[in-house]
Amino acid sequence: MQIKCISVSYILCLTFVGTYGSENAPTNDFPASFKFGVATAAFQIEGGWKEDGKGPSIWDVGTHEHPNSVVDGTNADIADDSYHQIDRDIEMLRDLGVNFYRFSIAWTRIMPNGDRSSLNRFGIQYYNTLIDKLVANSIEPMVTMYHYDLPYELQKIGGLTNPLFPQYFESYANVLYSNFGDRVKLWITFNEPSDYCVPGYGAGSEPPFVNATGIGEYLCMHHSIIAHARAFHLYKRDYFKQQGGKIGIVSSSRFYFSRTNDTGIVNRALQFNLGWTMHPIFSKSGNYPEVMIRDIASNSQMEGREWSRLPEFDEFSIAYIRGAADFLGLNYYTSRYVQLGPHAETKNPSWEKDARLNCSVDPSWKRAKTPWLYNVPEGLGGLLRWIKEEYNNVEVIITENGWSDDGRLNDQGRVDSLKEHLRYVSQAIKKHGCNVIAYSHWSLMDNFEWLKGYSERFGLYYVNISSPERTRVPKKSSDVYKRIIATRKLD
Ligand SMILES: *[C@@H]1O[C@H](CO)[C@@H](O)[C@H](O)[C@H]1NC(C)=O
Ligand SMILES: *[C@@H]1O[C@H](CO)[C@@H](O)[C@H](O)[C@H]1NC(C)=O
Ligand SMILES: *[C@@H]1O[C@H](CO)[C@@H](O)[C@H](O)[C@H]1NC(C)=O
Ligand SMILES: *[C@@H]1O[C@H](CO)[C@@H](O)[C@H](O)[C@H]1NC(C)=O
Repeated sequence: MQIKCISVSYILCLTFVGTYGSENAPTNDFPASFKFGVATAAFQIEGGWKEDGKGPSIWDVGTHEHPNSVVDGTNADIADDSYHQIDRDIEMLRDLGVNFYRFSIAWTRIMPNGDRSSLNRFGIQYYNTLIDKLVANSIEPMVTMYHYDLPYELQKIGGLTNPLFPQYFESYANVLYSNFGDRVKLWITFNEPSDYCVPGYGAGSEPPFVNATGIGEYLCMHHSIIAHARAFHLYKRDYFKQQGGKIGIVSSSRFYFSRTNDTGIVNRALQFNLGWTMHPIFSKSGNYPEVMIRDIASNSQMEGREWSRLPEFDEFSIAYIRGAADFLGLNYYTSRYVQLGPHAETKNPSWEKDARLNCSVDPSWKRAKTPWLYNVPEGLGGLLRWIKEEYNNVEVIITENGWSDDGRLNDQGRVDSLKEHLRYVSQAIKKHGCNVIAYSHWSLMDNFEWLKGYSERFGLYYVNISSPERTRVPKKSSDVYKRIIATRKLD
């Protein structure tokens, strides 16, 4: 959830005319098979940061060593205390009536050091309890294996820039399938690689704070994709026959509009964002988007390098990665207008400079508490249709979509955003034949919003972070979502 453009301090006052998202005939219901859920992530809700043998993650260490990097100086040592509040969390899920719950497993609870030598049965027990209670309440578990919280011990050996990372990840995935795969049928390997690779290993602005700009972010993505493919093939080879589940990967992406109808720049922007992760897996090429391969190679050459900063997939990898997923997970929050930015200079290269996206917003777009989040529901429609064309109508799960504010209970902004986005989802399915099978709202409850701490709230439930019980209170949006789920209709 980063700002992925050259920031511009002015706003152009032109109205949007574009190829996508212009239909306004209302569509307001969902197929009977369509599933509704809510999402969370381990680090943002669990707390219990060193309980029962859990090892530290890069976010534990990062927030402890750099408390000033979190805007309100907080950390996630206790967070929503979900480590101790499974029953209360289940109660909320039941009350909402969700079909599924997307949560993540903390690698550091399962393997505190990141490898099999440190296997921790208490971690396995915690997730067994959670999964059993979900199943007992007919709530399908959807598990994210990796949601930013890398074991710190693995960071000591380079983290996601280490070429052995995929091997460690496969070993972790193996433990998850063998312990939970009898009940978990929907697996997500990675959440938002571009969002942890660019700030984590490129700009150095988020844990693990590695500033290897222009190189580290590409290595991180490369190893994330290979690790994903290894986990996918392991499942198909050793588990699928018995367990019959699905494996996907999640990327966030904005949609882009051009004020001059320049489809070239819109495509470039989408390829540098969603395509960076998804093109190797879902396109016929089995490789990074052509525009990335070409431009990063040419920039690297101008910089006097012997090889491209974008790593190459060899022939074996291409065949191995192509098609290695059952569904595409999409986190959609917002959109931008885009035009081509300046040519990269040869000093301090970065993903951002390679991408050359000069972004701006429309003054009529309503802004959330989060500075980058503008309400652009038509962008979700545009993105779903782009995915349909680009990736041969692959099965899509909207794994996140949401709105931030100060935590107020009368959260009309979230209510409006939820309904407007769902309207475009319904339309994408019914009018445009997009293969979207599920929608998951971010988030079940207010939680630790990374470097924004508790200052920005995305929950359907308010969480009182100053009460020892971390009391949860339903917001207006939870009632609205509950009704939508029950009726499968927007009013
Ligand atoms: C990252 O490194 C570059 C080049 O050394 C430097 O210009 C930049 O300020 C550094 N960024 C951070 C966040 O430390
Ligand atoms: C953009 O394309 C639309 C639809 O094709 C057209 O109506 C509009 O006039 C075009 N706008 C510009 C600025 O070219
Ligand atoms: C981005 O576009 C605006 C509007 O055309 C322009 O004024 C500005 O200089 C551009 N910024 C960069 C960094 O190219
Ligand atoms: C949060 O909890 C604290 C401590 O229990 C209490 O004093 C405060 O009134 C609560 N705030 C809200 C908004 O409920």
